[in-house]
Amino acid sequence: METKTKIEEQIDIMEKISKINEGKNLKYYIFTMGCSLNENDSEKLCGMLEKMAYNKTEKIEEADIIIFNTCCIRENAEDKLFGKLGEVKKYHEKKGSIIAIGGCMMQQEHIVEKIKKSYNFCDIIFGTHTLYKFPEDLYKVILEKKHVQDIIDIDGNIIEGIPIKRSEKTKALVTIMNGCNNFCTYCIVPYVRGRERSRAPKDIINEIEELAKKGYKEITLLGQNVNSYMKSEKCNKIEEQDKQTSYGYVNSFADLLLAVNKIEGIEVIRFISPHPKDFTNDVITAIKKSKKVSKLLHLPLQSGSTEILKKMNRGYTKEQYLSLVKKIKEAIPDVRFSTDIIVGFPGETYEDFLDTLDVVRKVNFEQVFMFIYSRRVGTPADKMENQVPEEEKHVRFNELKELVEQQIEENNKKYIGTVHTILVEGKSKTNDKLLTGRTDSNKIVVFDGDENLINNIVKVQIVSEHMWYLKGKIVE
Ligand code: 5AD
Ligand code: SF4
Repeated sequence: METKTKIEEQIDIMEKISKINEGKNLKYYIFTMGCSLNENDSEKLCGMLEKMAYNKTEKIEEADIIIFNTCCIRENAEDKLFGKLGEVKKYHEKKGSIIAIGGCMMQQEHIVEKIKKSYNFCDIIFGTHTLYKFPEDLYKVILEKKHVQDIIDIDGNIIEGIPIKRSEKTKALVTIMNGCNNFCTYCIVPYVRGRERSRAPKDIINEIEELAKKGYKEITLLGQNVNSYMKSEKCNKIEEQDKQTSYGYVNSFADLLLAVNKIEGIEVIRFISPHPKDFTNDVITAIKKSKKVSKLLHLPLQSGSTEILKKMNRGYTKEQYLSLVKKIKEAIPDVRFSTDIIVGFPGETYEDFLDTLDVVRKVNFEQVFMFIYSRRVGTPADKMENQVPEEEKHVRFNELKELVEQQIEENNKKYIGTVHTILVEGKSKTNDKLLTGRTDSNKIVVFDGDENLINNIVKVQIVSEHMWYLKGKIVE
């Protein structure tokens, strides 16, 4: 008898649960924290839940199952989760709603212990490596009325074939790799997501081709460190029989970009996040050659001080970062950059911080994601001396924010009168009489237009700027 694959086993269980749930009109509510990788994981949880005959609700009080997909990159996520758990206890007690918590935070022992002690009504606790087994865990709760804890520390192979329910209709997230090998000293990700594992090119290309057939026009390739795609040993390499296919040559991130660029129907390709130390020439050339690849590159700086970058284990100096930016700008003249910056890393002096401001001035980023350093249990930086006082971190954060906002305002002015090719994503969230989309540089643009234009490409001229968005009019 043929043995079933891991996902086939789960699909069988999904069918069983679906039969149990038939005709009951059951609903699920999902709360997602953190990054796009987590959002993509939540789309998989939604896909599995819908296969098990649950429908999505935005009203937590009517949900039969409530799922938290957690993040632990910064401390405020923990406070948020515990606040929410306090809130859902009443639904569990009154309505019998099943409470499930998964994601990165559950890979941390001290958090799981806290949940078991203070929130012991939670039915399922699952980690990042066991997401695909969610149906099996749920089945145990339904049948045996037992609490389930399903967390492992070993990063298995990437599981393909998990059902997925996308949250958007025009743009889609596609995870190309899991985990991280970099161990930046402030970061918890390598501990909770494990080592780098790349998906096979075939699986990625097939997924994107399917998305294109369904009408998706924009793809964001996701990974903790996308430009080390296929560099680690734990990766699903090309099989012999696939060598002659359109993806047969793919052996690196640059190759993957070129292959995705050829997929008919896909118009815009974005990727997050690359690492400056792995931004090799072949990646630059691939971006330049690939018409569909956005010319807004996210290049996480973290700090502008060479001393701090060394303590962060980032693998580049201030000068190397700046010369990489220069090299990319020379190769791709219309390129723009966005970045991540942490202020208040242990030992950061005001002079170090001034180096960060200096890089921000020099690069003139299109977008800056700013973070106050947050101590993470188990990371080397948490044990470092000279932690910066909270107050000082906030002073620096505000100073950085001021500079960034000043630059955004100035940059926005340059947009007025310019014409952009924009994918119409839908109605504006704040005014449903307007349509919305983004420029290649990821600026939100709102404009008048007919609903039928959604998921079409239009030409929009910018007429005014409003700090966080631009207003435009369709010209073609
Ligand atoms: N404190 C603050 N910010 C952090 N990041 C990662 N770890 C921490 C931390 N401990 C930021 C980095 C990263 C982004 C996703 O989150 O800037 O690029
Ligand atoms: Fe964290 Fe650094 Fe890996 Fe990014 S590259 S996930 S910041 S360890």
